[in-house]
Amino acid sequence: MSALRAGRPPDRSGRSGEQEEPGAPGASAASLDLPAMSSEPVVQARGLVKRYGNRTAVDGLDLAVAAGAVTAVLGPNGAGKTTTVETCEGYRRPDGGTVRVLGLDPVADAAALRPRIGVMLQSGGVYSGARADEMLRHMAKLHAHPLDVDALVERLGLGGCGRTSYRRLSGGQQQRLALAMAVVGRPELVFLDEPTAGLDPQARRSTWDLIRELRADGVSVVLTTHFMDEAEELADDVAVIDAGRVIAQGSPERLCRGGAENTLRFTGRPGLDLGSLLKALPDGSEAAELTTGTYRITGRIDPELLATVTSWCAQHGVMPDGIAVERHTLEDVFLELTGKELRA
Ligand SMILES: Nc1ncnc2c1ncn2[C@@H]1O[C@H](COP(=O)(O)OP(=O)(O)OP(=O)(O)O)[C@@H](O)[C@H]1O
Ligand SMILES: [Mg+2]
Repeated sequence: MSALRAGRPPDRSGRSGEQEEPGAPGASAASLDLPAMSSEPVVQARGLVKRYGNRTAVDGLDLAVAAGAVTAVLGPNGAGKTTTVETCEGYRRPDGGTVRVLGLDPVADAAALRPRIGVMLQSGGVYSGARADEMLRHMAKLHAHPLDVDALVERLGLGGCGRTSYRRLSGGQQQRLALAMAVVGRPELVFLDEPTAGLDPQARRSTWDLIRELRADGVSVVLTTHFMDEAEELADDVAVIDAGRVIAQGSPERLCRGGAENTLRFTGRPGLDLGSLLKALPDGSEAAELTTGTYRITGRIDPELLATVTSWCAQHGVMPDGIAVERHTLEDVFLELTGKELRA
C-alpha cells in the first residue's frame, strides 16, 4: 500500500473533520454548504489580469482545470505561470477577471479553501530556521486526515534530513520537503510549481510516482514545469501560457497531432523527381533529398498522404524503404507555439 493511500479517510469529500490553519479566521469549510465539484472544473479563471506596477504579468487569461486530472502548465520564463497559480492559491489578488478554485474565491474564501488545497511554491516559501521533521509534523497536525509522515519521509528520501534546518538542506532536499508539505494534508487539489527543478534523476522519478499516485487517489494536480518529458509523462491536459495568456490547451496527444507539421522519411533510388512528387501532394507539403537517396516530406502527414506517396513510388518504379512517420514531440509543439527566442 502506498504512502498516499495509507490511512485514507473513508470519505474524501466529507469535509466535516477539516481543521483550519492557525490564524485562518472566518468560516471553515464545514460551515459552508459546498456543492459537489466532481464534474465542474476545480480551477476556473476567466479574463484574469494581474499587474505588478505597470508590468502586466497575466493579461486576460482563461483557464479551466479538470477535476481528478493532472494539468501541466507550460510556458517560457516570465510567461505568467507562477503569478497565475499564486493567484489561484489566494496569495495574489487579481486586478481583473475572476478565479474560482473548488468553487470558491481564493481570496475571500481563503479560510475555507486553504485546508483543501496543497501548495508547493516555486520560491520555497518555507520558514528557513525550522527543522525539516518539525515542519512536516506541524503541517500534518493542521489537517484532519494527514498522510503517514514517516512513510512520506521515507518515500521522498528525507529520512536523513529530519533534524536539519530547512536552510541547511540541499536545494533538492528543500524541494522534496516542500513537496511533502504540499501533500501531507491529503489535499483535494494540489499546486506544484516546478516540483522537480533541481532534483536528481532518482528524486525526479519518485516525484513522478507520487504525482501519479495523487491522481490515482482522485486528487487534482496543477503542475508547472519546464520539462516537456515530465508533461508528456504525467499530464492529462496541458495549458501553454505565453505573455500572460493561455495560447493552447489540450491533451499532449491532441497538441502534438494538431497544427504541428509532421515528417515522413523514406529511402529510395537517388535523384528522384521531387517536383513531380510534390505535384501529387497537397498544398503546403515540402519534399527534400536530405542525403543521397534519403527523402523527407513535411506537412500534414495523414493516411491519404501516405497512400499518395506510395502510389507515386509505384508509378515511378521506386521501392520506398524504411518509411517512417515522425510524430512531433511536445517540445516541438511548444517551440512552434512560443518561438525560439530567449525570454527576458
Ligand atoms: N513580485 C513581483 N514583482 C514584480 N514583477 C514580478 C513579480 N513576480 C513576477 N513578476 C513579473 O511578472 C512576469 C511573470 O512572472 P512569473 O513569475 O509569473 O513567470 P513564470 O511564467 O512563472 O516564469 P518562470 O518560468 O521563470 O518561473 C515576469 O515579467 C516577472 O518579471
Ligand atoms: Mg514561475
